[in-house]
Amino acid sequence: MNRLGVLTLLVSVAFGGPAFGQARDSYAGQPHLEKRGSATQLVVDGKPFLILGGELHNSSSSSVEYMKPVWPRLAAMHMNTVLLPVAWETIEPEEGRFDFTSVDGLLEGARENNLKVVVLWFGAWKNTYSSYVPAWVKTDTERFPRVQTSDGRGTERLSPFSTAVRDADARAFAKLMRHLREADGERHTVFMVQVENEVGVIPESRDHSPVANASFAAAVPPALTSFLEKHRTTLNPEFRAAWEAAGGKTAGTWQEVFGKGSLTDDLFMAWHYATYVEHITAAGKAEYPLPMFANAALIRPNYEPGQYNSGGPLPHSMDVWHAGAPSLDLLSPDIYFNEFAQWAGRYARPDNPLFIPEAQGGSAGTANALYAFGHLSAIGFSPFGVDDLGNAPLDLVGITNPAEHPDNEAMGHVYNVLSRLAPMILEKQQTGGLTAALMEDAAQRSARVSIGDYTATMTRAGNASGAGARVGAMFLQTGPNEFLVIGSGDAQITFSTDKPGPPIVGIESIDEEFFENGAWVPRRRLNGDENSQGQALRLYATDLAQGKIYRVRLYRYR
Ligand code: DGJ
Repeated sequence: MNRLGVLTLLVSVAFGGPAFGQARDSYAGQPHLEKRGSATQLVVDGKPFLILGGELHNSSSSSVEYMKPVWPRLAAMHMNTVLLPVAWETIEPEEGRFDFTSVDGLLEGARENNLKVVVLWFGAWKNTYSSYVPAWVKTDTERFPRVQTSDGRGTERLSPFSTAVRDADARAFAKLMRHLREADGERHTVFMVQVENEVGVIPESRDHSPVANASFAAAVPPALTSFLEKHRTTLNPEFRAAWEAAGGKTAGTWQEVFGKGSLTDDLFMAWHYATYVEHITAAGKAEYPLPMFANAALIRPNYEPGQYNSGGPLPHSMDVWHAGAPSLDLLSPDIYFNEFAQWAGRYARPDNPLFIPEAQGGSAGTANALYAFGHLSAIGFSPFGVDDLGNAPLDLVGITNPAEHPDNEAMGHVYNVLSRLAPMILEKQQTGGLTAALMEDAAQRSARVSIGDYTATMTRAGNASGAGARVGAMFLQTGPNEFLVIGSGDAQITFSTDKPGPPIVGIESIDEEFFENGAWVPRRRLNGDENSQGQALRLYATDLAQGKIYRVRLYRYR
C-alpha cells in the first residue's frame, strides 16, 4: 500500500471509517461517502457515483459458472452495479482455511462486463437465521450459542451476545476485506459492503438465553444513554416519544429507561445487534475501509417486535444503531411495500444518505427509482432478483436472457435513461434544481412538487391498476424556465407559480428528445393534440422503453 493508502487506513481506523465531509484528498481514489453541496454522495475513483444497481437471488453468486451467462445480461440492463452475497460458509469451509476462488471468479466476471459490485456479507445472519455460517460453526452449538426462546428452546440463529460468534465472524470478514484490498484495492470493482443481512430476531421480541436475560436485567450502557442525551433534539420523533413517555431517564435497566413494552425488547436487541455489527465492521475496515452499511427488513402493518425482525436497523431504532455502530456509513431499507415514499423518506436523513439495496423492480421500480434519485437524493437503487427468469434457474427454463424478463426489461429502460443523465443528476443533487413526483396507487389522483419558480402538478391519465398505476416523474432544471422531464407511467403535468411576477404559467415549448451520439437530440416538437393545445405535458408508460425525455420551456404572463 502506498503512503496515502496507509494514511487513509489510519484516518479511517482512528475515526471509525470515512466520515461525512472528510477532506476529499485524504481518500485519493478510495471509495467513500462525501458531503457535496446539499447531498452526501458516494465517490468512486474521485467522482460521484450513482448506483444503478440490482441484487442477485441469494444462491446465484455461489457459482461462478452459473454467473457466466448472467453477467452480460445484467450489463445489457444498463446496470452499473451488482449486489451479490459472499457467504461465510464459502470462504471459510474449515476453521482458519480460507478460499477466495469464488470471490476472485466473481470479480473477474464483473470486470469483464464493466460492472461494479457491492458485496453482501452473509456472515452470522441472513434474514435473522444463521443458515450461511460454515458447518463447523453451525454444528458446534456449545461453542457458538444460539438465540433462545422464552421456553428455553434453541433456534437456528446465533446469539449476538456470544463473543465466540462475534470474534469468529469478525475474523472471517476481516480476511475477506483483506483479500478484497489485495485483489481489488487498485481497481475498486467492489466499492461498498453490506455487513450481514436483515438482522433481528423472530419469532419472539428478544433473545431469552441466560446471557441475554442477564444483560436485559442490567443497566442500559452509558454509551447509549449519553448518545441519547447528546442528540435529544434530533432523535427520531417516535423513538424520542417512547423514551420520554417512559420518563426520559438516562440511567437504569432497559425497562426502567424505555418502559415495559415489547418495543423495549426491540431497542435492547437493536443495541446488541448494532454493537456486534460495529465489531465486525471495524474489523473489516481495519483491513480495507470501504463504505459499509446494514439493511433492514421493514415492518408490515400492525406487526409487533418478533413478528418483524426485532432489533433490525428500523426507523424507530436508527438512533440506537447510530450510537452502537458508528463505523457503519449508512442504514438502508429493503422496500418491497407499496408505501415506497414513506419508507424511503424515513431513511433519507441528514445523518443517513439513502441507499435502497433491495426493492421491487418492474414498472413500479422504475417510478420508485426516479423518486428516490430525484426527490430524496439517493445514492443508489437496486431491485432484488435481477437475474430472475420466473423462479427457475437459468439453464432450466426456456428464456435465456434475464434482461428479457418483463421486470428486468422495465428496469433496463429506466437505467438506460438514468445512466445518460447520471452526471447531471449527481450535480443537481449537490446544487439543487432536481426533484421528482410519485403517485403510488390508482387511488392517488395527483402529486405536486416545486422546482425553481414553478410548481408541477402531475395528474393521472389512463386507467392503469396494480403495480402499473404507480407513476413517477423526475424534473431536472436546465435554466430558469427550462426543465428536462423523465416519466414512468401515464400522466399529465401542468405548471403554476406562486412566485412574485406574472401569475400565469404558459408552455413555451415541449420537445421530445432521444439520446444519440452522446447527446440528447430533439425530434418532434410536441404541440396541439400532443400537449393539450399547449396546456400540459403528457407522459406515456411507453416513454422509458423508447428512451425518451422531454425538454419543457415555460413562460409567464398576466
Ligand atoms: C429479503 C432478503 O434480504 C433477501 O436476501 C431475499 O431473501 C429477499 N428478501 C427475498 O424476497
